[in-house]
Amino acid sequence: MTTAASRFAPSASPPSVHCRPVATPAELSVHLRIRERVFVDEQAIFTGTDRDERDADPATIHVLGFCDGEIAGTVRLYALDEEGVWLGDRLAVLPAYRARHVAAPLVRFAVRSAGDHGGRLMRAHVQVANVRFFQRLGWIALGGPADYLGSPHQDMVIELGV
Ligand SMILES: CC(C)(COP(=O)(O)OP(=O)(O)OC[C@H]1O[C@@H](n2cnc3c(N)ncnc32)[C@H](O)[C@@H]1OP(=O)(O)O)[C@@H](O)C(=O)NCCC(=O)NCCS
Repeated sequence: MTTAASRFAPSASPPSVHCRPVATPAELSVHLRIRERVFVDEQAIFTGTDRDERDADPATIHVLGFCDGEIAGTVRLYALDEEGVWLGDRLAVLPAYRARHVAAPLVRFAVRSAGDHGGRLMRAHVQVANVRFFQRLGWIALGGPADYLGSPHQDMVIELGV
């Protein structure tokens, strides 16, 4: 069992992190609750809910990140067009699991999944505070920051399947 104490206790080995798409309606609910907790309650980027029409689209891929077997984070991805351009969004890690290298595997998983589905390019609107993090994962900034959902975001892009 993971307790608050064990989560922060020094550990001999790094946490084991893995990612996969939600497998059941119950897991989709957990994915959506994590997003709400981070983007509505914590960051107040959305009011009430961050759900949109993409969540009702069966083609959208909702992903969960697990840290030492516990659900710790989310990312969502979907095709924007028929030309192989995908968008990744809703990258969120629960506060208790931050700085434990859950986000990077989630981003890499999204990139790999989009490539596996025939995508050639993935885009993301990245909060400016996270630009460096994405750059370290190979993403490139397009232009300068612009307002998105009421706060400054940077358009970023990565080639898929390279
Ligand atoms: C941003 C967020 C997803 C990062 O999650 P995380 O699991 O703590 O990140 P990781 O542990 O995988 O970070 C990996 C590395 O990137 C670094 N990093 C993480 N966030 C960073 C940031 N904003 N700026 C620079 N570096 C960052 C970490 O320090 C770590 O560095 P290291 O390899 O040298 O130790 C998380 O803080 C979060 O959910 N924030 C609120 C929602 C949000 O901002 N979502 C992203 C929208 S674009």
